Amino acid sequence: MKVGYVQFKPTFGDKERNLKRILKFLEEAAQKEADLLVLPELCNTGYFFRSRSEVEALSEKIPEGPFTRTLLSFAAEENMCIVAGLCEKQGEQFYNSAVLLCPDGFLAVYRKPHLFDEEKLWFTRGDGPISVYDVHKARIGIMICFDWIFPEVVRILALKGAQVVCHPSNLVLPYCQKALLGAAVQNRIFIITANRTGTERGLKFTGMSQILSPSMKVLARSSKTRGEVCVVDINPAEADSKKITEHNDLWADRRTDLYQLSSTS
Ligand code: ACM
Repeated sequence: MKVGYVQFKPTFGDKERNLKRILKFLEEAAQKEADLLVLPELCNTGYFFRSRSEVEALSEKIPEGPFTRTLLSFAAEENMCIVAGLCEKQGEQFYNSAVLLCPDGFLAVYRKPHLFDEEKLWFTRGDGPISVYDVHKARIGIMICFDWIFPEVVRILALKGAQVVCHPSNLVLPYCQKALLGAAVQNRIFIITANRTGTERGLKFTGMSQILSPSMKVLARSSKTRGEVCVVDINPAEADSKKITEHNDLWADRRTDLYQLSSTS
């Protein structure tokens, strides 16, 4: 299976320009025969909102909004699954969401449950569920950017059988790319982080998008600044074995009897 990501610098507020650039990257990914492609968080709008009216103006409904519909057509034409972050409007609420779009249609929306910093001023936090989905060649899960710092998210996806975690991001802190090496091996799972680059309204993003394997290999990693599409070949079934030595299986060896918070100790 070929999986990949797009790393680039969206232009804040210019949905038309961002969509054009995204479509170019998608075409390149199709030429590289990607089966699954991950785009950054809030990739068609930019990240750093300063008012509710900006959020309102740049948000769209899922799945009927134009960005989702355009990506859906592309997914169908090119037989590709796409995970992409966007600003969702639902009723009076706004969500920092990611869509999962497949060749045969819209599969899911994931609303970020762990909002980062000023996101809390504009977005409603998502209430899950933290689900896994069978796409054509793999079982995948989604988390968005800051979700990574809560190890429960990758853990629960792995326990539910995900082989690949798709991670649309706009990372600003310097920890994630290294920390997820731990998550990959602790859960024996692939993790695709699609990060953005550049500076927006004074906020600097870290790039270094990456694809990690269950044995902690860095299968791809971009620079801090370059916009690009990366596609690599993986065998998702590699994530099905949780065996880490002859005598250790990460799931069978869990001591859930010791993991309860107790009021007596
Ligand atoms: C982040 O969650 N965008 C840092």
